[in-house]
Amino acid sequence: IKKIGVLTSGGDAPGMNAAIRAVIRAALAKGIEVYGIHDGYLGLHRDRIEKLDRRSVSDIINRGGTMLGSARFPAFKEESVRREAIANLNKHGIEALVVIGGDGSYMGAKKLTEMGYPCIGLPGTIDNDIAGTDFTIGFDTALNVVMEAIDRLRDTSTSHKRISVVEVMGRHCGDLAMAAAVAGGAEFVIVPEKGFKKEELLAQIDEGIASGKRHAIITICEHVTDVNALANLIELHTGLETRATILGHIQRGGSPTARDRILASRMGAYAVDLLIDGQGGRCVGLLKNELIHHDIIDCIENMKRPFNEELFNLTKTLF
Ligand code: F6P
Repeated sequence: IKKIGVLTSGGDAPGMNAAIRAVIRAALAKGIEVYGIHDGYLGLHRDRIEKLDRRSVSDIINRGGTMLGSARFPAFKEESVRREAIANLNKHGIEALVVIGGDGSYMGAKKLTEMGYPCIGLPGTIDNDIAGTDFTIGFDTALNVVMEAIDRLRDTSTSHKRISVVEVMGRHCGDLAMAAAVAGGAEFVIVPEKGFKKEELLAQIDEGIASGKRHAIITICEHVTDVNALANLIELHTGLETRATILGHIQRGGSPTARDRILASRMGAYAVDLLIDGQGGRCVGLLKNELIHHDIIDCIENMKRPFNEELFNLTKTLF
């Protein structure tokens, strides 16, 4: 293999830059040329492709976001659009593509692979919602951002004896909310995987108040319920002032943690090894701290992320 491409797609995640850097430097070390594709699949379709060298990725390991830019590009679902994208890759002589992103990006990589164009998927999303890996690139950084936000909310909610409802990203995966609840010592966690019953939450809050609690922190994954309405309901029920905080895109930015930089660097270099080994159509994961790879088609069609019951139960034990 002589030429490969790399792109980032979907929601950005801290550590994507470290992954891009690793792909480029690992490939160049093996005599492979690397092309950066700007703005994800949109840029691939529009031929925003440039050759990169070692220096192109200097001073980016510490930066959040993605130097290549990212985009959501629903039109990539169209086969004709993908065919034009493959034509662009062929024009530059690019033989394989490393795609860094979440499940929408994996879907694009799967479809290209099915059309005979080999892709390697690297899991880059703060949501930690990709099958075939214990951790995604960006999750740890976002978790630390959320934990710090909870620490700050704890200060003010303690002073005012208030209840604080904190909405965390994650799309439909509760990992970020659960991990942040444990790390931040939150009293309650609400995740989509477990469903949500208002009565149960109110009963739990009552129990906490009966045991002497005068303030509380509730972390909740986005898309479960309207958090402002939930805060009103809790305030009416308990008589304790309650505030909702939606952390939003703050969770996606910032300098990646050491853990994310190392994960991204390992995965990026591993993707290049797979391509040198003649393996296309794979997605990379980390299982018990070992790098692994799966068939990307199988990953999307058949594999499911296991729910972390242990972490969920821990939030209840430590309540
Ligand atoms: O997938 C990452 C993520 O940040 C999700 O947690 C969130 O639901 C979504 O992207 C937000 O998307 P956008 O940046 O397009 O508003």
